[in-house]
Amino acid sequence: MAKRTIVALPGDGIGKVVLDEAIRVLEAAGFDADYVNGDIGWEFWRNEGNPLPDRTIKLLEEHKIGLFGAITSKPKDAAAEELSPALKDKGLVYSSPIVGLRQHFGLDICVRPCHTYKGNPLNFIRRGAGDTIEEPEVDVVIFRQNTEGLYGGVEWSDPPEQVYEAFLTHPKFAKNFGHHPKEEISISTRIFSKKHTERILRAAFEHARKYNYKSVTLCEKPNVIRETSGMMYKMAKEIQKADYPEIELWNTNIDAQMMWLTKNPENYGVIVAGNMFGDIVSDGFAGLIGGLGFACSAQFNPDSGIGVFEPTHGSAPKYADYPVSIVNPIAMIESACMMLDFIEENEIAKKIRKAVAEVVAEGKVRTYDMMKMSGRPDVIEKGAASTKEMADAIIAKL
Ligand code: NAI
Ligand code: MG
Repeated sequence: MAKRTIVALPGDGIGKVVLDEAIRVLEAAGFDADYVNGDIGWEFWRNEGNPLPDRTIKLLEEHKIGLFGAITSKPKDAAAEELSPALKDKGLVYSSPIVGLRQHFGLDICVRPCHTYKGNPLNFIRRGAGDTIEEPEVDVVIFRQNTEGLYGGVEWSDPPEQVYEAFLTHPKFAKNFGHHPKEEISISTRIFSKKHTERILRAAFEHARKYNYKSVTLCEKPNVIRETSGMMYKMAKEIQKADYPEIELWNTNIDAQMMWLTKNPENYGVIVAGNMFGDIVSDGFAGLIGGLGFACSAQFNPDSGIGVFEPTHGSAPKYADYPVSIVNPIAMIESACMMLDFIEENEIAKKIRKAVAEVVAEGKVRTYDMMKMSGRPDVIEKGAASTKEMADAIIAKL
């Protein structure tokens, strides 16, 4: 097979640090690829007025696979303030380049696995009968619709007349909001299409079948959000009945699910949700397996084969300038494993995951988060491993 080229998208802050370490691990595991650097993030917003330059889009079009660190995002006014003087007053509006990537390439399937690592001191524990302490094993994979819903970007403050008039035709809008002046109204829409709802549902059921999960849980709120969540639930029932009768379909409301996940997380397998609820529920489960240092994700478009793989954490700017980086690279390394699975380099992925599991289980090398320290530069003196030392330990196990 021809040698792969991977588009390395470091982004901002700790994104670059964890990406470099993940690439070192990939190389040590025998993954033979070239890497080209893709510009993305704050620096390009400030200097070019575009955090996602066209040249980066072209690189992804050509090579299809991106490994992404993290970016810094700021609200639109704060972002405008930081533009270089020559670009100010040009009416440029900041929008998140990672959301931009998702939408440009239709990366509508987002997958976020949350698996317990044995021996991780950050694992969720709970009280059992009597005075016992239980450590339930979490093995959940969240399928999040990644391009629509509340993050679809169809929103207005002081909406245009036509939009406002259209909303007034809805009796509930007229009754509950019609008495507010138009300029005091902000609207963010939650739009679901049948096509993309079906794609995420089918991706979830396929995954359950392939990896022998007994259930798929739809985590929405169909009793209240009747049209979008309601449509998703109805479609889930139809798809399950027609094509996946051996898999149980469970239906939970997002609010209740956030409570259940700390009571009986071991009961859940595959979870599927729209964009925002998928984001919320995946952070909830990530908290049970060690938090942001462990939470990985994949997002891809099954038709074009374009995929971008990234930890769910952000750029953690206050950690970015430490003389020795202290952040946990495991989330990024696990995201790289998801990339390997996507391009069918499953054996290498397996090898890396085994090495990570061994390092965590052994407990000799732990980053500050695993030692429950607060993230100050002196954690290294206090015995925490640096980002690089964690990657070195994983490489040693390979
Ligand atoms: P963050 O995820 O960057 O950091 C929050 C806290 O989590 C950190 O202060 C640190 O205590 C911990 N943390 C994060 N990554 C860690 C790691 N690998 N190991 C150990 N601890 C880790 O979120 P925050 O501070 O809310 O946002 C910072 C910037 O990142 C913002 O500009 C935000 O918009 C952006 N962001 C970008 C994302 C992306 O690129 N996909 C996702 C989330 C936030
Ligand atoms: Mg999030």
